[in-house]
Amino acid sequence: MNKIEMSGISKSFYGVKVLQDVDLKVTQGSIHALIGENGAGKSTLMNILGGVLPADQGSIKINGIEVKDMTIKKAESKGIAFVHQEINLFNTLQAYENIFMGKEITHGKVFLNKKEMITRSNELFSDLGVQLKATDLVGNLSTAQKQLLEICKALFSNADCLILDEPTTSLNNEEIDNFFRIIKKLQKEGKTFIFISHKMPEIFRICDEYTVLRNGKLISFGKIEDTTPEKVTSDIVGPGNSSQVTFIDRPIGNTILELHNLSGNGFHDVNLSIKKGQIIGFTGLEGAGSSELMQAIFGLKEISSGKILFRGENITGLNTGKIMKHGIGMIPANRKENSVFGVLDILNNFSLASYTTSKSHFSKKKDLDSFNNYKKEMSIKADKIANSIVSLSGGNQQKIIIARWLYTNADLLLLDNPTQGIDVGAKAEVYRLLLKIAQTGKTIIFNTLELSEIRKCADDCYVFYHGSIAASLNREQMDDKTVMMFATGANKTKKEAK
Ligand SMILES: Nc1ncnc2c1ncn2[C@@H]1O[C@H](COP(=O)(O)OP(=O)(O)OP(=O)(O)O)[C@@H](O)[C@H]1O
Ligand SMILES: [Mg+2]
Repeated sequence: MNKIEMSGISKSFYGVKVLQDVDLKVTQGSIHALIGENGAGKSTLMNILGGVLPADQGSIKINGIEVKDMTIKKAESKGIAFVHQEINLFNTLQAYENIFMGKEITHGKVFLNKKEMITRSNELFSDLGVQLKATDLVGNLSTAQKQLLEICKALFSNADCLILDEPTTSLNNEEIDNFFRIIKKLQKEGKTFIFISHKMPEIFRICDEYTVLRNGKLISFGKIEDTTPEKVTSDIVGPGNSSQVTFIDRPIGNTILELHNLSGNGFHDVNLSIKKGQIIGFTGLEGAGSSELMQAIFGLKEISSGKILFRGENITGLNTGKIMKHGIGMIPANRKENSVFGVLDILNNFSLASYTTSKSHFSKKKDLDSFNNYKKEMSIKADKIANSIVSLSGGNQQKIIIARWLYTNADLLLLDNPTQGIDVGAKAEVYRLLLKIAQTGKTIIFNTLELSEIRKCADDCYVFYHGSIAASLNREQMDDKTVMMFATGANKTKKEAK
């Protein structure tokens, strides 16, 4: 039986059609992957199902019964819960207050039963194996913890169909394993999931069926067991587009960045020497220190001892503004919280970092011309540059953040999880672009949990373990097994066992 049946759905924003006659059929009890490039219309389709947006045309059936004029309340009453792509929590409230917002448990009619709400939240967290406490202040949680809290909130609503819009973007591998275990458990209890992700391994690991959208149209659908990652990828990117990246061997210059016994919160005794024009991949399990180290180089985290030399100059302890003036740029790990300025339009979001680094005068024409170049190179879907950046799809926002830092003309770019939420085709475009700018002598360090990304374009890979560099691997050495061994400390265990 179909749990969800959407037929002939169309939707336009300001005259632009973003969904055209789309059908979606989700089998009861399945985990259904909704896949497609950035801006394909996935979140919009789910916003229609969840009653956040009205469709212009089409019908929705839930459990075989048509639901007209869908609203958020109606969707919830039909058992649909929605974990949105962007985090929607109140930082000034505690975890349990966020969970019970609008569904508070009371003594009689007036007094809140805090104790009961706290107990039930803690029960859910321990049931799901999530490291959270009901009384945690949300503002103090990490992005990953917030993402987990969002998921818990949806699970709490007792829904039987959960829409998960890119739920794993800021979870580490262990948290993803845990999360998938929870989903599988709930599936066994009869729940249905619609799962949006750009990560092909995740889709093939957990989903039973799939639907691919491209440019607002339905391209393909079926059972996961009847397809392959290659076929799905080619449906996503479309004919004539390639997701292949060809590594380019380039001449490498002199040393540009040196770290001498650098220690700080989350990393210690890091020694590193990186040459001009190199592309370096950092990896390791979350919390292994690579992200913290990048933040310290960029002046966002305190350094307790050691030295950073950039082009031979000591930049240890400088503030971020000064570090940018030295020619260093950084994309931080979480877009929504650290990069996107929702009150600014698309063009300003693109150009704002260049004002700190650039010595030349402000020129809107120059900004616009450059923006249009990046738009072409990265296939950014953005029609009106005067619109707010939040009117763009998640992946297109991220592409603008990447373009922002490429536009600063920084000589060293620190990119923390730069391809979060970016589709497979555009990821390839980003890597081709990184290789191209490295050819012009720019140096790039990027941090990712996905080794396949590092293999596509890095000259060397540094694997972090418990705050220090466990291995430095060249292109021949960076295979999954070797990286995993160093990332988990298995190499040490072996040595100790001898
Ligand atoms: N509120 C809005 N106003 C104007 N345009 C919008 C709005 N919401 C979405 N769009 C446009 O609709 C199109 C589809 O966006 P949607 O967010 O559904 O894409 P998506 O498939 O979820 O992409 P991603 O993988 O990047 O999240 C995009 O071109 C986007 O710019
Ligand atoms: Mg989306």
